[in-house]
Amino acid sequence: MGQIVFGALAPHPPHLVYAANPPQNEPTAECGWETLRWGYERLADRLSTIEYDTIVVLSPHWQTYVGTHFLGVERFHSLSVDPIFPNLFRYRYDLTVDVPLAEQLCAAASEAGLVTKMMRNPDFRVDYGTIVSCHLTNPTWDKPIVSISSQRSAAFYSVEVMQEQMLALGRATARAIEASDRRVVLLASESLSHRHFVSEADIPEDMSREHITNHHQYLWDMKLIEMLRTGRTREVVDLMPEFTEQAVSESDSGALTWLISALSFPRYTAELYGYGTVIGTGNAVMGWVPREAR
Ligand SMILES: [Fe+2]
Repeated sequence: MGQIVFGALAPHPPHLVYAANPPQNEPTAECGWETLRWGYERLADRLSTIEYDTIVVLSPHWQTYVGTHFLGVERFHSLSVDPIFPNLFRYRYDLTVDVPLAEQLCAAASEAGLVTKMMRNPDFRVDYGTIVSCHLTNPTWDKPIVSISSQRSAAFYSVEVMQEQMLALGRATARAIEASDRRVVLLASESLSHRHFVSEADIPEDMSREHITNHHQYLWDMKLIEMLRTGRTREVVDLMPEFTEQAVSESDSGALTWLISALSFPRYTAELYGYGTVIGTGNAVMGWVPREAR
């Protein structure tokens, strides 16, 4: 019987990869955003104590406007360039996909009444949200992934509609994993508050320029983190429409709602590995370990 062995809130600022200077990324940095990068190191250390087969990630930057899509080709390799920060992120990726699990997830979501599609184009360029979250979680890329798109009903309808769909997708995800033989890590690839600066310092990694955009956004981040740390995940989902709007959060992608639903609304403590800002946005790296909670 398969199981979800770990779930994480795993934001994807490309700045964190830029600052870490991995061989896959062309631009080089002196330093930067250490508190968050150390947080990701703590997450990776934690994950090294847990055996798993596949990483499943839901990314706000693979945006599909008709239904939820799943990567469905065994291997993707190409150059990923961040459209906003081509000066920071030009990353050569080479990743493998757990296609059988992707197909099971897709089928379970269809059975739940969601519109779905397998992405079978071998020339498809994998989005940078998927790449950054997976790189920071598992820099060796020694596990296959499944990437799930963000269908944008928050934009076309409302956050409430998006939530309903993501709650259903989370339940379908849990069901499909249970019916599989896989031990799975789930990643919600998103920032918390997401109001950001509109100009860049001459040296992007100049940390004297980095801080939260405004106090209001900080208060929202602290509120969400405190609720997740104390297992108030139902309240988080209830609050999501207001949070999404007021904090301009990437939770409009549905990633965090999907994760909470797949984990069956955890009432146990989420581990906090780090919090920090990137161009003014709020980012928390957090994890849930269902087996230990049981
Ligand atoms: Fe993003």
